[in-house]
Amino acid sequence: MHVTLPHFAAIAAIPLASASTWLEVRQSQRITVDLTKKYQTIDGFGFSGAFQRANLVVNLQGTKQREVLDLLFNTTTGAGFSIVRNGIGSTPNSNRDYMNTILPNCPSKPSDITSNYSGYVWDGKDSGQLFLSQKAQEYGVQTFYANAWSAPGCMKTNGQDTNGGMLCGISGTNCQSGDWKQAYANYLVAYIKFYASAGIRYTHLAFLNEPDFTTSYASMLSSGTQAAEFIKVLRPTLDSANLTSVAINCCEATGWSIATQHAQQIAAAGAESLIYAITSHEYTSRISGVMRTNARVWQSEYSDLSGSWGIKWYTNGASGDGFTWANTVFNGIVNSNLSAYVFWEAVQDRATNNNNNEKLILIDGQNYEVSKRLYAFAGFRIVRPGAVRIGTSGGSNIKSGAFRNIDNSVAVVIINSAASVQTLGVVLPGYPLVQAWYTDESHSMSAATVMVGMDGTASVRVPGRAMVSLLFKTVESETVIKQTATN
Ligand SMILES: *[C@@H]1O[C@H](CO)[C@@H](O)[C@H](O)[C@H]1NC(C)=O
Ligand SMILES: *[C@@H]1O[C@H](CO)[C@@H](O)[C@H](O)[C@H]1NC(C)=O
Ligand SMILES: *[C@@H]1O[C@H](CO)[C@@H](O)[C@H](O)[C@H]1NC(C)=O
Ligand SMILES: *[C@@H]1O[C@H](CO)[C@@H](O)[C@H](O)[C@H]1NC(C)=O
Repeated sequence: MHVTLPHFAAIAAIPLASASTWLEVRQSQRITVDLTKKYQTIDGFGFSGAFQRANLVVNLQGTKQREVLDLLFNTTTGAGFSIVRNGIGSTPNSNRDYMNTILPNCPSKPSDITSNYSGYVWDGKDSGQLFLSQKAQEYGVQTFYANAWSAPGCMKTNGQDTNGGMLCGISGTNCQSGDWKQAYANYLVAYIKFYASAGIRYTHLAFLNEPDFTTSYASMLSSGTQAAEFIKVLRPTLDSANLTSVAINCCEATGWSIATQHAQQIAAAGAESLIYAITSHEYTSRISGVMRTNARVWQSEYSDLSGSWGIKWYTNGASGDGFTWANTVFNGIVNSNLSAYVFWEAVQDRATNNNNNEKLILIDGQNYEVSKRLYAFAGFRIVRPGAVRIGTSGGSNIKSGAFRNIDNSVAVVIINSAASVQTLGVVLPGYPLVQAWYTDESHSMSAATVMVGMDGTASVRVPGRAMVSLLFKTVESETVIKQTATN
């Protein structure tokens, strides 16, 4: 990495050049970063390409495909997403936008699906998700999340993967065909192994999606108590397949209040230690407060389902604007102790769901259009997986969150809630190298000028209703990076 001054702060640049700038600095609000306060560890930020949406990226040609991939994964020009959530198909075909299963022809007895069952059909595409995962990996993504919406129909009380139903074998079911818990666990392991053979190591696995919701597409019902029964089968099955590093997440509730119930039920059933994260969506109830659990907590799917396609940063709270999303993600990560925030669809076409805002990028044939929602996530791209959230204080009409990355750099993410420009001083002595980027209506992660004073205060002007991301580095950490680049 070659360091050029325009991107980095001038060291000891006070007093600042003009009288008007000096005045602003005097008026600045101060935000103090506290390295001694340590909160949750961040796993990352992500999205899904489920329900064949990933194919929209697969089908882009030439530079367009590279541009969209850069928007999603590039850590210097795009959102720098670090988690890819894939749907494990349960449908015997690819009709409509359904995701096809590796078990299109199901044996009649659960005992036929042994750990070495050979009747799976792997198409090497997985509805475009394998391609998207491989590209993500090329950009350095390491967190891959496999998530089944349902077991295949043959394993369920209602004989189909759609319209709810339950997994045969959990309490409250009594299927003539028997107990399919072990068969379902073996099947999930087989899916993970197909990806492994294609070079993608899944790190996280979920076997339910919105188990409190019956719908005409893939869905399967479960309480947290019933989920715990399956977790107790799945964990040893993964372990005996040498997949000890694949962590189980549960249960992708439609909203925070159901997810909170899931957490309590899983703990009461003695399965909390077998899971990695409690996962919640935000559709039926929004995230608020901190969930009581020893597991990590992820917001693993949310988007705006109403309103028509909009790309703006600020619309005074209309559906899906970027500023609202900046606040939504901020609330989850900084106020509610989340370790991950995962959006719903990365990309979608114009025809689906009346061209609503459930996507970050509209792909229309060979054309694409980016919403500012993407830049709400880009504001967090300096918070890398493994970062630990640390303390901040001070500032009015300002939201601030800080994170210490594994490389010891410190990421500070700020939202200016005021409609007018504010000049901020961010106090973090010992980190003289500071870069900043900001997003508002007319800027998308544009470089911002930062002045670092003798006392280690970094001053930055933040336009009204803008999001600004500051990355602080020590001279030592930068030297290490330069040496690595030179070697
Ligand atoms: C598959 O595993 C079963 C036990 O689960 C065993 O009886 C059978 O011999 C194995 N088949 C092969 C081909 O390894
Ligand atoms: C990210 O974008 C920059 C600028 O276009 C480019 O130089 C870099 O190679 C991209 N990163 C990756 C991993 O492709
Ligand atoms: C188990 O997985 C590890 C990597 O996670 C690999 O190095 C090892 O060879 C595997 N062992 C077997 C028996 O497959
Ligand atoms: C925040 O989450 C972590 C797990 O990631 C947990 O250990 C910690 O207790 C949680 N904090 C609070 C205040 O509940």
